[in-house]
Amino acid sequence: MALDSNKTAKVTFGDKELDFAMMSPSLGPDVIDIRKLYAQGDVFTYDPGFTSTASCESAITYIDGDKGELLYRGYPIDQLAEKSHFLEVCYLLLYGELPTAAQLDDFVPRVTRHTMLQDQMTYFYRGFRRDAHPMATMVGVVGAMSAFYHDSTDITDPDQREIAAIRMIAKIPTIAAWAYKYSIGQPFVYPRNDLDYASNFLHMCFAVPAEDYVVDPILSRAMDRIFTLHADHEQNASTSTVRLAGSSGANPFACIAAGIACLWGPAHGGANEACLNMLREIGTVDRIPEFIARAKDKNDPFRLMGFGHRVYKNFDPRAKVMKQSADEVLGLLGIDNNPTLQVAKELERIALEDEYFVEKKLYPNVDFYSGIILDAMGFPTSMFTPIFALARTVGWVSQWKEMIADPTQKIGRPRQLYTGAKHRDYVDVEKR
Ligand code: SDX
Repeated sequence: MALDSNKTAKVTFGDKELDFAMMSPSLGPDVIDIRKLYAQGDVFTYDPGFTSTASCESAITYIDGDKGELLYRGYPIDQLAEKSHFLEVCYLLLYGELPTAAQLDDFVPRVTRHTMLQDQMTYFYRGFRRDAHPMATMVGVVGAMSAFYHDSTDITDPDQREIAAIRMIAKIPTIAAWAYKYSIGQPFVYPRNDLDYASNFLHMCFAVPAEDYVVDPILSRAMDRIFTLHADHEQNASTSTVRLAGSSGANPFACIAAGIACLWGPAHGGANEACLNMLREIGTVDRIPEFIARAKDKNDPFRLMGFGHRVYKNFDPRAKVMKQSADEVLGLLGIDNNPTLQVAKELERIALEDEYFVEKKLYPNVDFYSGIILDAMGFPTSMFTPIFALARTVGWVSQWKEMIADPTQKIGRPRQLYTGAKHRDYVDVEKR
């Protein structure tokens, strides 16, 4: 709960002098409560990228961009990545505290029991071309959940909100794995309740009915860690999309489908796919200077994918963990001489010494190394963003639940700076 501070902000313009209350967070900058600005001052604020705007109050995730710090409910991401596991992180994000052993023993089967899809949903996949991007399939199938799980679409019922959250977390690995299987023409592999969350996803992706498939524990540990690193990230573009959709009262499955659609963009969750494609296009370390020059050229739209961030002006802490994981996983798989990894490390070294990147505080973000690990695990680049969406689903549903439960919540409806034509009368076509 934000604390009303004894501070006030004074805004003066024209003949107006307005005072606004300020609120102090538990971490981060104070905020100026400008909710009455338009009513009292007949003016709007202007902040198209929301770079200086707090859109909501939240207690879930905190980022300190200058320190390069990321906390889930106060716990540092590097500690959770090392010591926790994804379903425990899901519990933490959803309910605010690390679970006791008994709470975890109750939570895990609640998720496990919901991993299957209503069988008729398999027919949705058949409606897509086999070469459809798996993100297109995921947007469609998740949105279609609204047509099947009617007992968890009433957002006014806390019990239905809870089961909708559990269903989303439980079913998104099945939906993502089946999008992959469909794209490669292999039969769907059903979830297995005897496997942990990450192993179950890998089994659904890589097993075939013709033979047994044993999940490599190195890969399932790496997969679980990737899920944890991507789980939530404050009010990023896709989470803000989920909140805005949810603010109208739309059902939770429609809101998550909207979040998946937003995450797809290459400036956001699509960057992991774009980054690996870029590293492959660079190919060898001797071509790195050519691409650094392009990234700095204002006349060239090319940007270094996996670099830069709206909030982090220091290392993305997730990129640090991901880099360690890439070394570990590729080493254990005996491919640490992977040329793409070598290009990535040299590109990072050169960029971090280049004054352009230093001056603009551009560092590797979560997407810079993740693709190298996913590629080494056997995933095609088209599955990188679906895996990001799978992991971020718990963040989306947690933020959605928090918003719906907020008694002050109202429909999001921004205003605008209108620069179009002023009032004018209609002109008949013969007079134009
Ligand atoms: C994610 O918000 C989140 O939390 C997102 C995310 C999450 O977990 O939800 O962290 C996940 O989306 C990570 C970001 C993945 N995207 C990429 O890696 C794509 C490449 N990065 C850029 O597109 C860019 O850095 C953004 C979109 C990430 C951030 O854009 P901003 O904050 O709007 O930064 P900007 O466009 O204002 O850039 C500031 C300057 C600009 O130069 P000037 O106009 O000031 O001269 O830095 C330059 C930019 O041209 N710049 C880059 C660059 N990123 C910014 N130049 C070259 N390469 C880049 N990658």
